[in-house]
Amino acid sequence: MNYDINHLTFEEKLRLLTGKDFWQTYDANGKLDSVFMSDGPNGLRKCDGEHTEESIAMPCISALANSWSEETVFTDSATIADECAEKGVDILLAPGVNIKRTPLCGRNFEYFSEDPYLSGILAKAYIRGLQENGVGACIKHFCCNNREYDREFISSEADERTLREIYVRPFEIALEAEPWLVMCSYNPVNGIYASENKKILKDLLRKRLGFSGVIVSDWGAVHNSYKALKATLDLRMAFDERAYGELKTAYERGLITDAEINFSADNLLRLLEKVQNAKKERRKVRFSVAERRERALSVARESIVLLKNEGALPLDPRKSVYVAGGFSSDPPYGGGGSSKVRTTFKSEPLARLICERTGAKTGFRQHFSDDGMFAEKCLLESAAAADRVVLCVGEDERKNREGADRITLRLSEVQENAIKMVGKVNKNVTVVVYAGGAIDMSPWIHSVNAVVYAGFCGETVNLAVADILTGKVCPSGKLAETFPLSIADTVAYPYEPNGYYDRYEDGIFVGYRRYDRDGKEVLFPFGYGLSYANFVYSDLVVRKAGETSFTLSFDVENLSSVSGKEVVQVYVKDIVSSVSRPEKELKGFVKKLIEAGKKERITIRLEADAFAFYSAALDEWYVENGDYEIQIGSSSRDIRLKARVKIELPLESQYTVEKADLREIGSET
Ligand code: BGC
Repeated sequence: MNYDINHLTFEEKLRLLTGKDFWQTYDANGKLDSVFMSDGPNGLRKCDGEHTEESIAMPCISALANSWSEETVFTDSATIADECAEKGVDILLAPGVNIKRTPLCGRNFEYFSEDPYLSGILAKAYIRGLQENGVGACIKHFCCNNREYDREFISSEADERTLREIYVRPFEIALEAEPWLVMCSYNPVNGIYASENKKILKDLLRKRLGFSGVIVSDWGAVHNSYKALKATLDLRMAFDERAYGELKTAYERGLITDAEINFSADNLLRLLEKVQNAKKERRKVRFSVAERRERALSVARESIVLLKNEGALPLDPRKSVYVAGGFSSDPPYGGGGSSKVRTTFKSEPLARLICERTGAKTGFRQHFSDDGMFAEKCLLESAAAADRVVLCVGEDERKNREGADRITLRLSEVQENAIKMVGKVNKNVTVVVYAGGAIDMSPWIHSVNAVVYAGFCGETVNLAVADILTGKVCPSGKLAETFPLSIADTVAYPYEPNGYYDRYEDGIFVGYRRYDRDGKEVLFPFGYGLSYANFVYSDLVVRKAGETSFTLSFDVENLSSVSGKEVVQVYVKDIVSSVSRPEKELKGFVKKLIEAGKKERITIRLEADAFAFYSAALDEWYVENGDYEIQIGSSSRDIRLKARVKIELPLESQYTVEKADLREIGSET
């Protein structure tokens, strides 16, 4: 195929800027190859017309993020790439890197975190897993698509610093992995549709962040093809028959130039070339369905979070277990909307899986479901008769889906009542929670002695849950988002949409940055998760490696008899600053296996970006001289080691008189 733009006629160039159909790019009657795109990110959702092919439902991005493991994320997307290779998909429309500004956003299960650093680093691993296996990645939705309610109309109104530090930052980090495409969002940003927003696409994404790949619209997000082209949006999807006419008329009226058309058409040709090269190199399908499922299970095992454990887990094989709740035999594996994967896989009921692993006497009756069925008498009798109870509760895709937000963080009344009543008749109750995001557990958590957060962990979720409950696997997931005590503590409250704009008055204080600033207690903090092992941190040594670089090293010792993985987190606090800054910000993390009774030395390097904030005055990232506190912890609210470092850049680079004492420089006045 010839990728030279001069081989295309004017009409072909214009047609290349919109699709051939719902999923493919224009092929100029066979002169060009067309590229096939499909949705992710929770597995491959390949649709062709009415038909959706069956694929492995992998853990959702929200669950993946709880793994805090780049290796796990890579395994996940590389498995999806294998499925793409088998099914002839060139580009996966994933991952989503929007920030979880509110825990109610209906699409949070498709996003990583409330923290930009964690989102960006894990997104990079996801992109690499796809692209190193010959499948293009498309990060989405650029930018500020942080709610689903009226997402096509409500303008996200955020100031420059907030944009750069919170909402654009995950994209900026992810771009280091060179995704082939970026998808713009539906919503207006500061009053102008993202698809037509020159400042966001042309000035920020292309010029400042250096993105040279294809900008594709979200499906149907373009309102006017020529305005989108002027903002450097290259590809309007899905195919829309109005697009060609709009572009042609705009050209005839002198509203768009040859240079603008050629720029975008050429970006498309470069994409076709990348796809062809990748196809040549695309490895043969490497995994059988069973192997892919095994990989999905290995990811799920890393992603489940143990939230509470007062001596209940792992389950004692000598004690009988009664399992209840509809999700124990038919768990939700993901949310609804464009990311919903079609799978027919069903694992054995959880009670049987527990029995297989431990030989424990287990019983199961549904007795209640998430939406109403409640056989109270039978439930309580069975619960009272067993040594231990496992209750499976949560939400499914009806509450976690594209196009709508959740309206509460609470479980259904039926579920809350079932937990409280069972807690009265049995003192050994473990609750397994399946959900796409944070759940308010405060009404019932004191009635039970263990909580396992399964999230939306894909089709093998209950196999992984059984491994964790029985101790076959030591839990190692940690929360990538705060679980607040109540919705009233969040930015979602009170949310009274006015139909036009959503002002981001919370600024950079999103997630734990907000709760820390307000000194608010939370149910479970960002970065929190328990283990069956017991890790102790010691011997922190900090070495200055450059003007703004430091190497931290410290020991983590596993004092227990169980081998396990610990997620070590590094936060940085600017002690005195010329602008408002968070109490702490995540700037590094490592997940490490530490064998029972063994000690590991961990080394993490911090560079300038660990200390910088986005200065709206300078319009760039800026590191201010002064003291910074390094906090090393097992969660954002469990800091185990601290140290202070000093940054002393040349005074010429500094602007804030009090901090850098610039008076010395200007002393002649
Ligand atoms: C979603 C995108 C998705 C696209 C194609 C849109 O509704 O917002 O995330 O990739 O549809 O299905």
